[in-house]
Amino acid sequence: MSAISVTGLRKSYGDHVVLDGLDLDVPRGTVFSLLGANGAGKTTTVRILSTLINADAGQARIDGHDLTREPDAVRAAIGVTGQFSAVDNLLTGEENLLLMADLDHLARRDGRRRAAELLEQFDLVEAGRKPASTYSGGMRRRLDLAMTLVGSPRVIFLDEPTTGLDPRSRRNMWQIVRDLVAGGVTIFLTTQYLEEADELADRIAVLDNVKSSPRGRRRAC
Ligand SMILES: Nc1ncnc2c1ncn2[C@@H]1O[C@H](COP(=O)(O)OP(=O)(O)OP(=O)(O)O)[C@@H](O)[C@H]1O
Ligand SMILES: [Mg+2]
Repeated sequence: MSAISVTGLRKSYGDHVVLDGLDLDVPRGTVFSLLGANGAGKTTTVRILSTLINADAGQARIDGHDLTREPDAVRAAIGVTGQFSAVDNLLTGEENLLLMADLDHLARRDGRRRAAELLEQFDLVEAGRKPASTYSGGMRRRLDLAMTLVGSPRVIFLDEPTTGLDPRSRRNMWQIVRDLVAGGVTIFLTTQYLEEADELADRIAVLDNVKSSPRGRRRAC
């Protein structure tokens, strides 16, 4: 069964066509990578599939749930690490995780246990007591992903998870993705790097601007 299946997805902003009939299929427990230049529509696709914005047309099922008819069930199944950090700078790493646990309605004790596990897993045990404002870009990215994992989502959207990371931090992030997939999670990731898609993805799609109509078309191939 597919974790994500999409047919005929369309989205325009005014007369600017961003997605013009996007089709894709992601089997469970695999990594799907969406490549594309700046402005190609990667974040738009992630935002639609994670229920943050509506498409103009098309259908999508996420973890077996219809995106438009069952958005709450979709939200319960997914985690999203956006292109720009959701980390609260005024809170420590641990407090950011506990806040997510609260938002995910975890019992207090379960939330504390999950936060401790994730700080350990993401090598943030010491940093966890410090305000996120003192973190480096790589630490912040790791905390951001850890926050996404608090609710143990089955499908995870990662929008450019390694942009701006140094080669070592990038490799660490790749290992985290591989470990998640080994645990049965499905990953939908966007990237600007062909090498990253090549390393991680079972399937790759490129959002391409096809100038076959006066307005231009976006499609995945
Ligand atoms: N809220 C909005 N209103 C108008 N246009 C928008 C809006 N959001 C995105 N766009 C436009 O849609 C297009 C696709 O944007 P999107 O953010 O999806 O690209 P992207 O592939 O994620 O790019 P990047 O690699 O820079 O993150 C761009 O031309 C952008 O200007
Ligand atoms: Mg983007």
